[in-house]
Amino acid sequence: MSQRFSTDVLIIGGGAAGLSAALQLADHARVTVLSKGDETTGSSHWAQGGVAAVTTSVDSFDQHADDTIAAGAGLCDPDIVHFTVENAPAAIARLTQMGVAFDQEGNEFHLTREGGHSQRRVLHVADATGKAITQTLTQRALDHPNIEFITDRLAIDLINLSRLGRYPSRCAGAYVLNRDTGHVEVFQANYVVLATGGASKVYLYTSNPDSSTGDGIAMAWRAGCRVANMEFNQFHPTCLYHPHAGSYLISEAVRGEGGVLSLASGERFMARFDSRAELAPRDIVARAIDHEMKRLGEDCVYLDISHRPSEFIHSHFPNIAQHCSRFGIDITREPIPVVPAAHYTCGGVLVDRYGRTDLPGLFAIGEVSYTGLHGANRLASNSLLECLVFAQSSAERIISQLDRPTDLPRLPHWDESKVTDADENIVISHNWDELRRFMWDYVGIVRTNKRLERAQHRIDLLKQEVNEYYAHYRINDDLIELRNLLHVADLIVRSAMQRTESRGLHFNRDYPHTNEHAADTIMFPGNLDQLDMMRPSRQA
Ligand code: FAD
Ligand code: SIN
Repeated sequence: MSQRFSTDVLIIGGGAAGLSAALQLADHARVTVLSKGDETTGSSHWAQGGVAAVTTSVDSFDQHADDTIAAGAGLCDPDIVHFTVENAPAAIARLTQMGVAFDQEGNEFHLTREGGHSQRRVLHVADATGKAITQTLTQRALDHPNIEFITDRLAIDLINLSRLGRYPSRCAGAYVLNRDTGHVEVFQANYVVLATGGASKVYLYTSNPDSSTGDGIAMAWRAGCRVANMEFNQFHPTCLYHPHAGSYLISEAVRGEGGVLSLASGERFMARFDSRAELAPRDIVARAIDHEMKRLGEDCVYLDISHRPSEFIHSHFPNIAQHCSRFGIDITREPIPVVPAAHYTCGGVLVDRYGRTDLPGLFAIGEVSYTGLHGANRLASNSLLECLVFAQSSAERIISQLDRPTDLPRLPHWDESKVTDADENIVISHNWDELRRFMWDYVGIVRTNKRLERAQHRIDLLKQEVNEYYAHYRINDDLIELRNLLHVADLIVRSAMQRTESRGLHFNRDYPHTNEHAADTIMFPGNLDQLDMMRPSRQA
C-alpha cells in the first residue's frame, strides 16, 4: 500500500520559482516542496547572466518593457510585461534581504548587458547568479519550520477530482514516485503549485540539466489545462563546443561585455544579419550562427573576449574561464568554440497574472508556465525575474484563499495490481535517444512543413509504444520522463504546424513571412488524443 501525505500547499519543483513561492507562503500555511533531487537539479542553479531589473535612474520600466516586447515579436501581453518589470525591484529587494549578494560597483549594483537590452540592467553574482540565488533560497527553506523540502521525488500525475467522478473539477494533489523506494506515494493538498521548469531535454543538445523534461507541462495538459505557444523553443547561441564538454553555456554577458563572434577564418559575421550585431536578440543570433555553420559546413563558430584585460575576464567570468581551461581553452588569450543549444521553453501552461491555470486549485509558475511575458522569444535574464514575480503573486493569491474550505475526499491509492516488472529497458532508452535526435533534426532552429510532418509521424509511433509499455509495466524515472517528453514534443510539433508564418523563435522555411496580426497558439485539451496517454486504472 502506498504512503499518503497531506499538506496545505504542495509545490512541485525546488528551483527559483518553487522555493520563492514556498518562502512567501510558509508564514501562512504548511508547505511541501518536492524535487527530483537537490537544489542543483533545476535550471535555476545553473543560471549565469543574471536577473533583469530597473535599478538606476537612466533606465525606466518603459524601456525594460519595450525591450521585452520587441524581443517577443508581437506576442507579449503588454499588461503582463508591465506587471513583471514593475515588480522587479521588489523581487530584487526580497533576494538581497535574504542574503543574495549581487555584485556591486561602489554603492551601486554592477549591471551587465545582454542581447536585446537597450540598457545595462542585469544584476548578477559574477557568472554564477543562479547558484547564489538557489543556495540562499534553499537554506531559507530548510530553516523554515513550515516548509518540508523532500528530494528524490518525481511527480507522475496530478489528481483532478473530476477524473475520480467528483465535481466540480479541482486539483487535489499528485501521485509521486519515491525514487529511493520505487513506490508511488499520494500527496493530497488544498493547493498545488507546478514549478517544474522547462522542457529543453526534448532536444539532443541543450544547456539544461537533466530535470528539464517538461513534466509539469505534460501533467497539467493531462489534467485538463490549456497549453500555449509551445512552438517557441529558445536556442541559446553560445554553448561550448568540445567533444567532452556537454552543452556548457557561455553566458550572453560575455557578448554584453564586448565578446565578438567570428567564423573559423576570423571574419565577424553578425553585422550581416542585424545592426545590433552580437547584441541582437537570441533568436536572430542563434539563427545567424546556424546559417553560417550550415553554409560553410563548419562544426562551430568562435566567441572571442580575449581583447578585454585578463583581470576583467577573471573577475566577471571566473567559472566560465575555469570551465574552459579544463578543456585546454584559455579565454583570456583565444576564442571559444561555440554552437547553439536548446535553452528555454517559452511556451507552457497558460496562466493569469496570479499563476492560476484552468484547473481550480492548480497554479503554475516559472518556466513551466506561459504568462505572456516572453511572447515568441524571451529577452535574456527575464526568466529568473518571471520566477520571482509570479511566485509572489501566486503566493498572495493562495494566501487570500486559505480560509476557504476545500473539502477534499480521501484520494485513492495508486493501482499497481495489473503491472509487472519490465523484462528489458532498451525500448525506453532507444526511444529517449530517437525522440531527442529527430526533434533536434526536424524541429530545431529552422523548420519546414516536411520536417514537421516527419516528426509528427514518429511521435505517433513512439506514443503507441510508450503507451503500451506504460500500461503493462511498473513505472520508473526514465519511463515517466519519456512519456512527458513525448507529450511535450507532440505539443511542440502540433503548435509549430498550426503556425503558418515565421515569428520570433519559430522559423519555417515554407512560411518565411510574418503575418500582420500576431496570434497565440493555444492547445485545448480534448482536441488531441491526450487521454490515451493516461492510465485510468492507476488512479481508480
Ligand atoms: P527549475 O529551476 O528548472 O527547477 C525545476 C524544479 O522542478 C527542479 O527542482 C526539479 O527537480 C523539479 N522537477 C521537475 N519535474 C519534476 C517532477 N516531475 N517531480 C518533482 N520535481 C520535479 N534565466 C535568467 O533569467 N537569467 C540567466 O542568467 C539564466 N541563465 C541560464 C543558464 C542556464 C545554463 C540555463 C539552463 C538556464 C538559464 N536561465 C537564465 C533560465 C532560467 O535559469 C530558468 O528558466 C529558471 O531558472 C527556471 O526556474 P524554475 O524554478 O521554473 O525551474
Ligand atoms: C546567459 O547567461 O546567457 C543566460 C541568460 C538567460 O538565459 O537569460
